[in-house]
Amino acid sequence: MSEHNNHDAQHQGEKPVKRREMSRRQFLSYTLGGAGAFMGAGMIVPMLRFAIDPVLQPKTQAAWVKVVEASKITDVPTSFKFKVHQVDGWYESDPELEAWISKDKSGNVFALNPTCKHLGCTVNWNANPEFKDQYFCPCHGAHYTADGKNLAVAPLPLDQYDLKVENGFVYLGQLGPNKRV
Ligand code: FES
Repeated sequence: MSEHNNHDAQHQGEKPVKRREMSRRQFLSYTLGGAGAFMGAGMIVPMLRFAIDPVLQPKTQAAWVKVVEASKITDVPTSFKFKVHQVDGWYESDPELEAWISKDKSGNVFALNPTCKHLGCTVNWNANPEFKDQYFCPCHGAHYTADGKNLAVAPLPLDQYDLKVENGFVYLGQLGPNKRV
């Protein structure tokens, strides 16, 4: 019995090793498949970039917007509405914004955003007889000076627009923190 087993083991040891050779058909299909994948990637990558690119781009900065003739601006803050063109990824919009524009004692024109810095209601100039010549918020009673300085309730001054006067017109740009107070 043990002799028989030995014989089997010897026989197995002598088995010729089969080489796995690639057939001509396999070689062709691998080569063509590889070339096809390479060409496909060459077409798909630019398409993907085109599709994803707008998301990766930073938001387009608001350009200067012509708002009003400079001659209409006085030392009494006045509300002006204007539209800005915004591009955010694939989404484009033209929201209407509001600015309160006035001149200070030195004749410098400046523009404030009426969004209350407490919880975002809209402030108005001289809207409460208790707070004369101030911006007042009807929601929780925040009030601000003509420069936008926060006097009560709100934690921060009103935001200020970048502003330039060119060829007799007031142009507004980016909104940012108040630089006057
Ligand atoms: S939102 Fe203006 S006071 Fe609260």
